[in-house]
Amino acid sequence: MERAAPVDESAEGAAEDPFAGMDPEMAAHPQPMFKMLRDSMPVMPVEHGVVVTRKVDVDVVLRDPVIFSSNVDAVDLSNIRPLIPLQIDPPEHKKFRKLLDPIFAPREVAKLEESLNAAADELIDTFIERGEVDFSKEFSTLFPTRVFLGLLGLPVEELPTFLKMKDGIIRPHMVIGSTYASAETKAYQRATADSIYAYFDSVLDQREVERKDDMLSRFLDATVDGERLTREDILDICFLFLIAGLDTVTATLDCVFGYLSAHPEQRRAIVEDPSIIPAAIEELLRWETPVMGVVRIATEDTELAGCPVAQGQSVMIMLGSVNTDEADLPDADVVRFDRDVNRHVAFGGGVHRCLGSHLARLELRVALRRWHLRIPEYHVPEGHTLVYTPAIRSIDHFPMEFTAAQ
Ligand code: HEM
Repeated sequence: MERAAPVDESAEGAAEDPFAGMDPEMAAHPQPMFKMLRDSMPVMPVEHGVVVTRKVDVDVVLRDPVIFSSNVDAVDLSNIRPLIPLQIDPPEHKKFRKLLDPIFAPREVAKLEESLNAAADELIDTFIERGEVDFSKEFSTLFPTRVFLGLLGLPVEELPTFLKMKDGIIRPHMVIGSTYASAETKAYQRATADSIYAYFDSVLDQREVERKDDMLSRFLDATVDGERLTREDILDICFLFLIAGLDTVTATLDCVFGYLSAHPEQRRAIVEDPSIIPAAIEELLRWETPVMGVVRIATEDTELAGCPVAQGQSVMIMLGSVNTDEADLPDADVVRFDRDVNRHVAFGGGVHRCLGSHLARLELRVALRRWHLRIPEYHVPEGHTLVYTPAIRSIDHFPMEFTAAQ
């Protein structure tokens, strides 16, 4: 398919991580900071652009993907071409979504429920006898990765390779113990990016020879408006899936279980009536907003709420702030599982709204159902404070003590 140009490494404003260096206390409880920004400086100038916190201003940005582009300058993940569909602007973007949306439609995703139940149970089996677990290392990191391997028709033995590739892009500094944005970190991230292209290239070679009942085989045969995806297109989709589809679910599981560990009454409500799980997930997606924000690049000089934004500057949209904006939702600071309507933006908004939201919701529902059925009582050991990472709010070390159901 026709596509955007390769990544220009020298691009002005090429993104640094806007959340690097965020205070861990703020990452754990960002809602007061969001309120303070909305009240005092809703469009706040920062080094390379602005941070936007009110729903009314964020709507302006998300509704105009031409002026506020999601192109390769928005986020640098060491990819050599734009990631598909995230870094493709309209009108090309629509062609890719037309092809991908049906693969991730609710009806398609629902077919996976049984295998997801089995994956969740198998993981729980590995620690249920112990009465304690590192939730992050033994469940929330592994579960979405196993789901994805299943979608791609890859064996579970590939799990460590997947985790290495994902972490090498998302948190390279933590993998090799170097400083964020140092030359060493950057080199490791680049090498990881090369290994991702090579990995999927080799799997695609195998699928060219013999199709399987998996997503990669579907990509090879898919057409939109009579056009097939090129090999590069498929690689650029796979690269994005690895980055967008694993950590986000892990972080959401961490945030949801972190919240429920600290709020036993709401945890018990779920155990007593599992039918409230879908509503609880929506409310915790809103309140916790595990993906704190997304970034756009201004393609021309413009302004937001009177604040000038120059061409090439970044616009950091704080999704977590939109979700707790009392101007849109009067009781936004109350966490309740009985909302009739919950129009949160935890999956983003506008044309780039999350492609995998139905899959993510199914993964979350399955995880919460299986977990609370088998492990109704759990808490973080006394004296331990959970530390959340900024940007994508996961918890690297999440000790939990629990009592399994009889
Ligand atoms: C609870 C889990 C998840 C959360 C919170 C989440 C959140 C988001 C957000 C906020 C965006 C918008 C990015 C932007 O506007 O810059 C997004 C886009 C995207 N997400 Fe998710 N996501 C989740 C799970 C998944 C999964 C499981 C997949 C698997 C395919 C996925 C694939 C994508 C893709 C491909 C895009 C780009 C869509 C486009 O540009 O048209 N996400 N996600």
